[in-house]
Amino acid sequence: MPEAAPRLLAFAGSLRQGSYNRRLIHVLADGARAGGAEVTLIELRDYPLPIYDGDIESEGMPDAVRALQALMARHDGLLISTPEYNGSMPALVKNTLDWISRPTEEGRSGVGLFQDKVAGIVSASPGPLGGLRSLLVLRDALSKLGLLVVPQQVAVGQAADKLPDYGILNDDRLRAGVHNVAAAVVRHARGTQSNGATA
Ligand SMILES: Cc1cc2nc3c(=O)[nH]c(=O)nc-3n(C[C@H](O)[C@H](O)[C@H](O)COP(=O)(O)O)c2cc1C
Repeated sequence: MPEAAPRLLAFAGSLRQGSYNRRLIHVLADGARAGGAEVTLIELRDYPLPIYDGDIESEGMPDAVRALQALMARHDGLLISTPEYNGSMPALVKNTLDWISRPTEEGRSGVGLFQDKVAGIVSASPGPLGGLRSLLVLRDALSKLGLLVVPQQVAVGQAADKLPDYGILNDDRLRAGVHNVAAAVVRHARGTQSNGATA
C-alpha cells in the first residue's frame, strides 16, 4: 500500500504584513512539500485569540481555539518560524500553544493533540543572531507539550537582505539548512506514522 503523505501544520509567529518569519515559513513549507509532505500553511491572524484567560474559557471556548485544535488533531506535526522578542518567543506563539493545549470539545486533553508528533523550527530577525534565543525557548516549550523537535534548526539573521519575499531565502547555506529541517521533520513524521500503524 502506498505510504500516506505526512500532514504538517505550518505558521509564522508574527501577525504583521511584511513579516520576515512569514517569508521564511514559506521556505520551510516548500522544503517539506518537496520531501513529500502535505503542508497546511495558516495565518495566525485568521485565528484571533485573546491572551489566555480561564474566565473566557469558562464562559465558552473561543471558536479559533476549536478550529486550531481540529487542525492540530488532523496533522502529524508542526512547522514554525518564530520571531525573537527580548530574547524569547513572542507571546503570540506561546499564547497559541497554550490555548490549543486546553481540553478539547470532546473533553480530551489538548496536550494530547501534540503528543508524539514532530516539529521543525526556524527563526528570522534583522539582528545578527537571527532570533536564535527564541528557538531555544520554543524548542523547550514544544518538547514539554510532547512533540519531538528535530535537532536541525536555522536562525536567519540580517533578514531584510536575506528574505526579500515569501519563500525566497538569498543564502545557499541557510536555504540548505532550512530544507534539512524540513527533510528531518518529514522523515520523523513518516516514522511516527509507521510506528502508529504497527502499534
Ligand atoms: C518587543 C520586541 C522585542 C524584540 N526583541 C528582539 C530580540 O530580542 N532579538 C532580535 O533579534 N530581534 C528582536 N526584535 C526585532 C524583531 O526581530 C523584528 O521586529 C522582526 O522583524 C520580527 O519578526 P517578523 O518580521 O516576522 O515580524 C524585537 C521586536 C519587538 C517588537
